[in-house]
Amino acid sequence: MNSFINGLPKAELHLHIEGTFEPELMFQLAERNGITLPYESVDALRKAYDFSNLQDFLDIYYQGMNVLRTEQDFYDLTMAYLRRVHAQSVRHVEIFFDPQGHLERGIGFATALDGIHSALQQAEKEFGISFGIIMCFLRHLDEASAQETLALALPHRDKIIGVGLDSSERGNPPSKFEKVFARARAEGFHAVAHAGEEGPPEYIVEALDLLKVERIDHGNSCLQDRTLVERLADFQMPLTVCPLSNTKLCVVDDIKNHPLPAMLEAGLRVTINSDDPAYFGGYLNENYAAISPLLNNDQSQLAELARNSFRSAFLSGERQQALLADVDRYVTAQN
Ligand code: ADE
Ligand code: ZN
Repeated sequence: MNSFINGLPKAELHLHIEGTFEPELMFQLAERNGITLPYESVDALRKAYDFSNLQDFLDIYYQGMNVLRTEQDFYDLTMAYLRRVHAQSVRHVEIFFDPQGHLERGIGFATALDGIHSALQQAEKEFGISFGIIMCFLRHLDEASAQETLALALPHRDKIIGVGLDSSERGNPPSKFEKVFARARAEGFHAVAHAGEEGPPEYIVEALDLLKVERIDHGNSCLQDRTLVERLADFQMPLTVCPLSNTKLCVVDDIKNHPLPAMLEAGLRVTINSDDPAYFGGYLNENYAAISPLLNNDQSQLAELARNSFRSAFLSGERQQALLADVDRYVTAQN
């Protein structure tokens, strides 16, 4: 691993905590909860991580999260992720979770949230990693279900900074969730949405105009619409790009053809993220390392991507300035 990337202070802004479920931990928790997995071994499970598209992945992802039953399970899952990224110089995380994926299995809202939140609090104390939690609505379900989920979240608003939108994109446009996003924003939540991963550029426009999001998760398909690219660049709208996810889900055919250089060339504010690292073959540093050759391993461009991650985070001005100064100090010390 490139040692410049390893030590570079950075934030992760697009990370599904359920997507950090490593097969070893999945088997361990399955045993603890008396669940039999439909795979013989860790290796057999890992072999199943071969996807042709987003839906292929989601089918396995929802099956995997079925093992998560107790608050301790969510704590252990989150702590395992935080230990890994602490070793990767990650200084701030904004973590997605999918409450509806747990509620429909009879797991209470607070069971998942409290387990995730207490691990984050512990990591803030132990590792100095600051954090936010974003609850995502599953877009393959209807808006009424999202509204019910938002109502469940309100008593826990002190632990949640924002709402997001994930799951099967095609056929589930942002417009389906206009009302619930309006309500969430009125309640003081930040708003983000997956858009333009498999869906058309029109879905990105809807996320901006109807959901009034502050970041676009993925956003790849914006490159098909020059006017949209100019709009995103003018507003410096953050895109949380996930290179290894894009290759594993066949959004791009080969990492060599990843559109990151074109995005930077167009003046877009790109951040690098891992999405579902246990399924896609790498955590944050592996994602930086994957795109580094496309930037000729230029350290100043890698550092700029890390700066973008802090600029695009829902952070207080003071913490943001301190983390940006850490990047500058790190870059100076390397040269
Ligand atoms: N849920 C978890 N990962 C996702 C992704 N990459 N796109 C949409 N929904 C997701
Ligand atoms: Zn995602």
